[in-house]
Amino acid sequence: MKQYIKTDEWNIIEEGFHPEDQLLSESIFSIGNGHMGQRANFEEQYSGESLQGSYMAGVYYTDKTKVGWWKNGYPEYFAKVLNAANWIGINVIIDGETLDLAKCEVKEFRRVLNMKDGFLQRTLIARLSRQKEIRIDAKRFVSMTVKEAGLIRYSVTPLNFYGECRITPYLDGDIKNTDSNYDEKFWEEVYKENSVDGAALTVKTRKLDFHAGSLMKYDILQGGKKIQCSTEPVEKDKYVGCNISLRLKQSEETVLYKYVINVTSRDKARDELIPYGRTRLEEISQKGFDAMLQEHSAAWHKKWKESDIVIEGDISAQQAIRFNIFQLNQTYTGEDARLNIGPKGFTGEKYGGSTYWDTEAYCLPFYLSTADQKISRNLLIYRYKQLEKARENAAKLGFSKGALYPMVTMNGEECHNEWEITFEEIHRNGAIAYAVYNYVNYTGDWDYLKEYGLEVLLELSRFWEERVNFSESKNSYVILGVTGPNEYENNVNNNWYTNRIASWTLEYTLEVISWMKEKDYPTYKILEDKSGLKETEISKWMDIIKRMYYPVDEERNIFLQQDGYLDKEQCLVKELKKENLPLNQHWSWDRILRSCFIKQADVLQGLYFLQDKYDLDTIRRNFHFYEPRTVHESSLSPCIHAILAAKLKDKDKAYEMYLKTARLDLDNYNNDTEDGCHITSMAGTWMSVVEGFGGMRVVKEKLHFDPIIPDTWKSFSFRIKFRESLLKIAITKDKVAIKNENGKAVTLSVYGKDYSIDKEMVIPVQ
Ligand code: BGC
Repeated sequence: MKQYIKTDEWNIIEEGFHPEDQLLSESIFSIGNGHMGQRANFEEQYSGESLQGSYMAGVYYTDKTKVGWWKNGYPEYFAKVLNAANWIGINVIIDGETLDLAKCEVKEFRRVLNMKDGFLQRTLIARLSRQKEIRIDAKRFVSMTVKEAGLIRYSVTPLNFYGECRITPYLDGDIKNTDSNYDEKFWEEVYKENSVDGAALTVKTRKLDFHAGSLMKYDILQGGKKIQCSTEPVEKDKYVGCNISLRLKQSEETVLYKYVINVTSRDKARDELIPYGRTRLEEISQKGFDAMLQEHSAAWHKKWKESDIVIEGDISAQQAIRFNIFQLNQTYTGEDARLNIGPKGFTGEKYGGSTYWDTEAYCLPFYLSTADQKISRNLLIYRYKQLEKARENAAKLGFSKGALYPMVTMNGEECHNEWEITFEEIHRNGAIAYAVYNYVNYTGDWDYLKEYGLEVLLELSRFWEERVNFSESKNSYVILGVTGPNEYENNVNNNWYTNRIASWTLEYTLEVISWMKEKDYPTYKILEDKSGLKETEISKWMDIIKRMYYPVDEERNIFLQQDGYLDKEQCLVKELKKENLPLNQHWSWDRILRSCFIKQADVLQGLYFLQDKYDLDTIRRNFHFYEPRTVHESSLSPCIHAILAAKLKDKDKAYEMYLKTARLDLDNYNNDTEDGCHITSMAGTWMSVVEGFGGMRVVKEKLHFDPIIPDTWKSFSFRIKFRESLLKIAITKDKVAIKNENGKAVTLSVYGKDYSIDKEMVIPVQ
């Protein structure tokens, strides 16, 4: 854990230069706009520790799989989000000395991520040789209104000298992924050009033939006026830049505006990249930095209006929730149905921009409540479009029917190659079914089931049908050899969560079939014929539901995480010495597997999803058994615990878990944020407030609230879209105020009592 970020309601602030935390800050201060993202690297040269990271959504590389022992069924490649051309680069040489913060004294340093307006700013004073002091002011953003545009204002002010300066804005496509399996470079040069006030570069991937064009233009101002200066083009392999020579006057600011367009062959034909880029570049540079920033900020203000959560009385909690919402909105805007939400978004390479079960299990609720319905629909359709590949995946593993979605994917194909994850974490199929239910229950968009949903459910159910086997000795169906959500156990039998979500998928599929048969038989018939669904399959599913085996401990009256879990030596996390944590950085994998410690919600994940099917006492007993054994070493863990603790009215636990999820990256709880921020778990943070403290739940299509408020908070409020209505829910110590902002009456339940709300209603807190 590391606390060096200053608390502030709207800003993330680093005061003073922390080179030892540069990798961490580069992740935290990242910016993005759904189309591209950029770690908070310095514009000027920096020889200290750094991960230069610029990412273009949906541009990936199929890096050849590297494993010790090949296992049949492994994918041939591991898809990686590509670290793309460095478009922010601006080198600065003063009187022959290169500005490099690793090599000079940094007198003052302040880095601010302004979340309200969506930009990154850095101001510093560096002392060069012969006591020369220089002030740098750098501001940049990736536009929310022109998705390909990145803009930088970079200024240099000599504080106590007159001197010569050479500034070099450049585009560098000679970039390597640090996680490249065979130390290969993935980009090749296609084209470059250089002119007096700009340059362009196109590179392409060595496989898959993605082309990426970057174009830049620049203006130089001194004393507030645009000036012409002597320039000299620089070209190297996959690199274009321009040396600009200037005289600097003491105390006078020299400003470089760098305008960039990044466009890829995902959006434009390969031969169109440069002409298209030129037009856009002309538009944004004509408009200018300030006007572009203004429209960008306005777009952010609109996003905040829809998705902000206001917490009064606790700045640290307020900053944290905004940071999470900010990063989510930077990562996925929902405009491009081919994209999804990577666990690290655009903030690092690890886990890349690939799609995990995280999207369905954690991210969907945020977009359901804060964005247009088509965005969450798109997230579901993304999987529908990959159904054929999921069928192929199941066939490849030896199944005669059904679909197994990949654990990690870029294009529908599995691209992860650790057997315990690839082959065994089959619970992801359950989360995909659950997302269909969640979406339909929330939106009332039953048509989705006719167009897409039922087809997916049928194939998921067929997979489960074949994946279970009947145990004569148990006289029940069992699921053997799996890894549950808790990845600190592999190859276990009868993981309660997996068995439960499998059986629930069958139940839900049957429910959808009956509903469709009754409401729209002709459509059902078409789907039945298309899928070749047989009566025998349906009766088998019913039998599995009836005779599924669930491990339990009768003495404690809890569900057992898996067969034999209680054979493990039972100890609690609080009994561990601090220096053991996080376990994954201090213990051998063998020791972890033998221990009873749990990485993330597992039984509790099931109780969270299916909470309406269990009474509070059951949830409480399981929570009190499992939470003390959980190390929360997946970022996805604390949010589920926060929600369940709030449901159990355990305010302190809920708040402790909230802080863990909300400040996970800001305080580097798991000591791994330097790899990138935990974007998908940020949606879990949002859930902790809305579903946890707000107690929001949609049961049988009706909205329910059961709010509690942490002791340190004066109030908290959030907005949600629910079907036709736009609701603002504000909770103080003594009342819950619900305002219907668009006047479309809605019936909802607060603390178990129904209200019809068309304007505003105030209910006492219980
Ligand atoms: C978690 C998985 C998750 C993945 C990506 C892992 O640490 O255990 O559940 O899907 O991270 O977020």
